[in-house]
Amino acid sequence: MELRIGLIGLGTVGTGFVKLLLEKHGHIKGRYGLDLRLVGIADLVKGSAYDERGLDLARLLELSEREDSVLAYPGAVEFQQLGSLDLVREDGVDVVVEATPTNLRTGEPGYTHIREALENGKHVVTTNKGPIALRYKELRELAARKGVFLRFEGTVMSGTPCISMGFECLRGAEITRIRGIVNGTTNFILTEMSKGMPYEQALRKAQELGYAEPDPTADVEGWDAVAKVMILANVFLGSQLTVSDVEREGITGLTLEDIRAAEREDAKVKLVADIRREGGHVKASVKPRRVPLSDPLAHVDGVLNALIFSTDTVGDILIMGAGAGPRATGQAILSDLLWIHAYLSGDPKKAPRALFP
Ligand code: HSE
Repeated sequence: MELRIGLIGLGTVGTGFVKLLLEKHGHIKGRYGLDLRLVGIADLVKGSAYDERGLDLARLLELSEREDSVLAYPGAVEFQQLGSLDLVREDGVDVVVEATPTNLRTGEPGYTHIREALENGKHVVTTNKGPIALRYKELRELAARKGVFLRFEGTVMSGTPCISMGFECLRGAEITRIRGIVNGTTNFILTEMSKGMPYEQALRKAQELGYAEPDPTADVEGWDAVAKVMILANVFLGSQLTVSDVEREGITGLTLEDIRAAEREDAKVKLVADIRREGGHVKASVKPRRVPLSDPLAHVDGVLNALIFSTDTVGDILIMGAGAGPRATGQAILSDLLWIHAYLSGDPKKAPRALFP
């Protein structure tokens, strides 16, 4: 079986995914019997390329790294000639991977890409938080109506499978609270600050490592965490929170003295996301808090993220792992694609072979 992929956005995440696909293509074919074929790319700045036989990933990466452009790829065209909306409507594309940057005000351009892809009967895998945070209910209903999959593992905790855990592993359980650390950049900065590194230097390091958003204000002022909180609340606690429903405070007002003061009380300062049911409502916040060393969240350092899911059947479950980075986010896309493959390869009377590990 083959899945033909159209990729929108060749920034840090898109490039990380292409690199991982190049590395894992053979393994995926051997283990899952799937030819994951990247047939098209559309990037507003770098240009567009399409080849139904599959693009040459190594060549694409080489060109994109050297000239910051896919335009040099044989047969590539300007974005205006093959735009993202042309790509999502292309017959030769089965799955659209949407990896454009998050916009938490409008959800664009990701929202339109995803809606058009679903309307055109394509499965969608996205890492873009805006459309899922703002329009999840509508997009989920559209996907269901069209009989296609909408997957978004990479939107929260990158490749650490917290979305799959909530969806697949906790089927039947009621999730009553989710609390944790969901922004890698700020956790990295706070960890470096606790070792004595000044704020600015720690932020630069996080940017160099590909953790930060294109505009790091989204990370340090807590907006990125707010987007993730909205996703978790709206997907798992059935709420319909808007941006203004989430209490928000970033880390820019914190000083080294605040961090030292917490340490004197056997605590660490963490940017904590908290979503809970309270009197029939869902309450959510993102705030720096003093977390006592007795709390597992106090030991989640660097770019690591962690979430504690409280449930009515198994109590609390902690999931911890990478929260950002191109390779980890590439893994999220890959696992969503393989999940789609596993379900598509099914026969209602037979367990699909691709579901066996
Ligand atoms: N900028 C985000 C973070 C990337 O630092 O966690 C993943 O959404």
